[in-house]
Amino acid sequence: MSGEAIKKFLGNATTVAVVCNQWGDTGKGKFVDLLSGWADVIARGTGGANAGHTIRIGDRQHIFHLIPSGILRDTEGKINVIGSGTAFDPRAACEELAVLEKAGLSYGNLRIAHNARLVLPQHVVLDRVRESNAGGRVGTTGRGIGPVYADHYARVGLFVNDMLNPEVFARKLKQNLREKLTILRNYDPEVVRRVLEHPHAGGGRFWNKEAIFDTAAIMEAYREYGARLRVMVADTDSMVRTMREQGKHILLEGAQGNLLSVDIGTYPYVTSSDASVRALAQGVGLRERDVDLALGIVKAFYMTRVGEGPFPTEIGGAESAAWCNTSGITKATEEEQFPDADVNDAVPFRQGVGIRRAGAEYGATTGRPRRVGWLDLPLLRYSKHYTGQEVVLTKLDVLDACKEIKICTAYEYGGPDYQFGAETLRAGKKLEVAVPDTEVMAHCAPVYAAFPGWCIPIRSMRSHRELPKQLLDIIRFVEREADVHVRAVSVGPDREETIFAG
Ligand code: GDP
Ligand code: IMO
Ligand code: MG
Repeated sequence: MSGEAIKKFLGNATTVAVVCNQWGDTGKGKFVDLLSGWADVIARGTGGANAGHTIRIGDRQHIFHLIPSGILRDTEGKINVIGSGTAFDPRAACEELAVLEKAGLSYGNLRIAHNARLVLPQHVVLDRVRESNAGGRVGTTGRGIGPVYADHYARVGLFVNDMLNPEVFARKLKQNLREKLTILRNYDPEVVRRVLEHPHAGGGRFWNKEAIFDTAAIMEAYREYGARLRVMVADTDSMVRTMREQGKHILLEGAQGNLLSVDIGTYPYVTSSDASVRALAQGVGLRERDVDLALGIVKAFYMTRVGEGPFPTEIGGAESAAWCNTSGITKATEEEQFPDADVNDAVPFRQGVGIRRAGAEYGATTGRPRRVGWLDLPLLRYSKHYTGQEVVLTKLDVLDACKEIKICTAYEYGGPDYQFGAETLRAGKKLEVAVPDTEVMAHCAPVYAAFPGWCIPIRSMRSHRELPKQLLDIIRFVEREADVHVRAVSVGPDREETIFAG
């Protein structure tokens, strides 16, 4: 993709945000990587190592969880920022830096906000112990995200900078652990011990039989992380602000997606930070109005969700959800059990497996099968309120072989009478815009429009003119029905496999 084409695509914008209008995994990483040649700084401001961004360049694949997807441009002098709004796990960071080193990639221009929220072993432990309770399971990534943001708002959290001051760290750590211990003592000690043995919780080195946590071991580990990362720790909020004032090109990399946002998503089946463009801007020290162009990525014409929570258009419905959320199911399990499931399978569950396989929809962070459903316009109409009208459609090639494409145009509510503010929601009510209330979403049946598929491979196509008419018709339908502008489409994972709107 030429620099000229990207410049034309972005117009006069100097601050561009790439966020997701769905439940994550829409290809933000690919787009950030694609636009990173244009940017001077690539900054993350939300989420943490729960994210998983996959970038393909030629036959090499890179997966990042915490480090911005622009890191591959480090040698070109691009600055990558892990901003103040993120949950920073130094263990995960050091692991990713080691991977970069092994691949011969540099990270000399990586900067970490001194005031990013610091993930500690007790956060990972609490996250995982809570998830072991079948009743309240969200299906988290087990990276400690919920507990670290909860601590932040409860005013007992630690910041990255605390790692650099061992005495401050020790005092805050002890204070932070006090309440955690009270909670953890209610759990089976064996479960807690097992969780502390997980590599993300320190692989057993922070476990103490009497005290649960070996605080001296935590202090030592974080002192070492601090020593390793110190040169990268900076006041990134001021840095990004100054760069914006200087007219530099700023690319903001979203994590998760609007529907996973704790503030605007399908609560409680969400992550614990706000994933919207406003939080992204704030999480790097900017205001939402500083963002000149917000691109809302939309997977099309299917969508995915990882973990629990309502998903009205899920192909295969409850059977699919139960299967995907069964622990231990992997890509290999599916290949063994459903070797010939296909994107046109007459059995919805198997069709879902077929689409998942065609789209390689297995979690970049946990390896879990991503639940698959048709594109949901009521949710897009809702999500668009927060991102704006500019969208990018990704993964269009995945449905190349699909003979019939379904798009959800509205919901029909089918649950018990439900008081929604002054209104009583009754069975049979049509909803054109999704209501992100689980009590409502759980009882919404999709109303579909069906379209003939294009049934030819599109990955090699590089212009709108080449795209099949059937595909263009569906794009126009989505634009009209959801009142969005499709600014670009993605027809494959590589940088080149992208078509900008003319
Ligand atoms: P993110 O979390 O939004 O950055 O997305 P992920 O990286 O978790 O998931 C998107 C996956 O789809 C990655 O494996 C990408 O390489 C891949 N991908 C992105 N765009 C396309 C596309 O247009 N077609 C295909 N086939 N794969 C794509
Ligand atoms: P990217 O940036 C998809 C989901 C988890 C779970 C819920 C809460 O790759 O799009 P958490 O560990 O955050 O407390 O989990 O949120 N989740 C994601 N799903 N993509 C992500 O990030 C996700 N990050 C969190 O599966 O349902
Ligand atoms: Mg992802």
